[in-house]
Amino acid sequence: MGIKLKTADEIAKMRVAGRMAARVLEMIGEHVVAGATTEDLDRTCHEFIVEDLDAVPAPLNYSNAPGQPPFPKSICTSVNHVVCHGIPSERKKLKRGDVLNIDITVIKDGYHGDTSKMFYVGEPSVLAQRLIDITQECLYRGIKSVRNGARLGDIGAAIQAHAEGNNFSVVREFCGHGIGDVFHDEPQVLHYGRANTGTELKSGMIFTIEPMINAGRRHIKMLPDQWTVVTKDHKLSAQWEHTILVTDEGAEVLTLRGEENLL
Ligand code: MF3
Ligand code: CO
Ligand code: CO
Repeated sequence: MGIKLKTADEIAKMRVAGRMAARVLEMIGEHVVAGATTEDLDRTCHEFIVEDLDAVPAPLNYSNAPGQPPFPKSICTSVNHVVCHGIPSERKKLKRGDVLNIDITVIKDGYHGDTSKMFYVGEPSVLAQRLIDITQECLYRGIKSVRNGARLGDIGAAIQAHAEGNNFSVVREFCGHGIGDVFHDEPQVLHYGRANTGTELKSGMIFTIEPMINAGRRHIKMLPDQWTVVTKDHKLSAQWEHTILVTDEGAEVLTLRGEENLL
């Protein structure tokens, strides 16, 4: 048992899938404008993934838990107080001041690339900007704690310290995950915890880190659609996600975008 290390051939395929997921996020930015619906964003991403990338959008018809209805769209769009897994809809029209997470997972040649980032419609509030920036820093601090021989708890501890040190809270019910030919695999990568605890990281492991950080309290509520997760207090939530490979020196970010140079 335990976490399977990727072979060189699998790592090559994960680099391709990761790069493709990143390209979708690079492409969609200019479409995030007031008046667009989240359904418009879904359609644009779906067509790009299927036609330009010759890949498969992993969320479409995906189900994780018994009894959960299949996810009906190709991407997740989580606006303002939606924590994650927001379902694109013709009824959700973006307006100035909205902030949203777009989460992309593509399957290419049987392997998954999973990544998300925050977008703004017009100018965000001072609070939204701060939440978004701190959450991205949480992701980067988590990534920086990764290296062969480090432990899973080091990632969670780094994220939790930065979020709570800025008076934000860490969502506990969802976590990063192993990924490869399976979308959600071992290990569970918690975004809170204690340094020097948990499973030891080994070169060749691939998993996501995807902290969900709330402006208010950490508690969440599931909507009746059984996918959309919102903050219980209806305050803002932010999330950023990368798929990473553990190496001897640190982490290789498989879903890195051109705009990111600090990693
Ligand atoms: N991409 C999400 C993650 O980071 C999972 C979305 S599952 C879906 O793990 F079905 F909602 F798309
Ligand atoms: Co993920
Ligand atoms: Co994702």
